[in-house]
Amino acid sequence: MIVFTKKSELKAKISSFKEKNMTIGFVPTMGALHKGHLALVNEALANNNQAIVSIFVNPTQFDNPEDLKKYPRTLDKDVELLKSLSENIIVYAPTVEDIYEEQTKSQKFDFDGLEHQMEGKFRDGHFDGVGTIVKRLFEIVTPNNAYFGEKDFQQLAIIKKMVSKNKMPVNIVGCKIYREANGLALSSRNTRLTSDYKEAAPFIYKTLKTAKTKFGTKSANKVTEWVENQFAKHNLLELEYFTIADEATLKTVKRKSKNKKYRAFVAVYAGEIRLIDNIALN
Ligand code: PAJ
Repeated sequence: MIVFTKKSELKAKISSFKEKNMTIGFVPTMGALHKGHLALVNEALANNNQAIVSIFVNPTQFDNPEDLKKYPRTLDKDVELLKSLSENIIVYAPTVEDIYEEQTKSQKFDFDGLEHQMEGKFRDGHFDGVGTIVKRLFEIVTPNNAYFGEKDFQQLAIIKKMVSKNKMPVNIVGCKIYREANGLALSSRNTRLTSDYKEAAPFIYKTLKTAKTKFGTKSANKVTEWVENQFAKHNLLELEYFTIADEATLKTVKRKSKNKKYRAFVAVYAGEIRLIDNIALN
């Protein structure tokens, strides 16, 4: 298991793989790895000659400085977890300077409007930060396949858009949401939940599942109203948004149409911790 902190050294290693025509599967992460991340890494291991995982808490995608400061950083433990999957994984854990060089700034992107919905409305500049870092990582790692979770469905859609608009030579693979037995979607931020909030948080997925059932017979508006009411009655969880959107445009649904795919998206505050989740509706 090799951990590179310098892109020059990683690039040299990657050149040697390319000379041997090896395929590279890449999983970008911000660390504090959990089983959701590991499921992505297993996909990369199964379908490529070499798996590479990046671990980097990207400052440009945080709109909240406190969230950036408190984001869990557990590199040694992360490396041990990856080792338990395979000794053969390569980790890239750069410093901010190594990856951003002299300017830790986002580039501006046009994702054909996907960036203005949901997370984009509530986290200023977030997707420019994500686009900037993922583009840089793709340039360094030059993967054949890159793996992203549906947990961050909007992020996955935005990365697919960036790749197709810029004709980047990488295949983007979306992976299912990994959940606790109680339904809570795994997230690095879950480790910051105190016991009361941890107990309360499965309510989020439970509500999404009931919303899905209701969407079979009711309008998007009626379901949204119902969900908003459920959270209004909850004394620990505070709803930031719930929206039912067209999977292709991520725009809120006004009228259901038979041949479109819909998904419900939610962002909730459990105290200071912001949690997101989503569910396919049809
Ligand atoms: P991070 O939150 O660490 O997530 C890394 C990858 O793991 C993302 O593709 C995310 O969708 C996926 N993931 C997280 N929780 C998951 C779960 N419960 N089930 C399935 N997949 C899950 O997303 C980021 O980092 C960053 O924005 C990044 C893409 C690395 C750019 O900085």
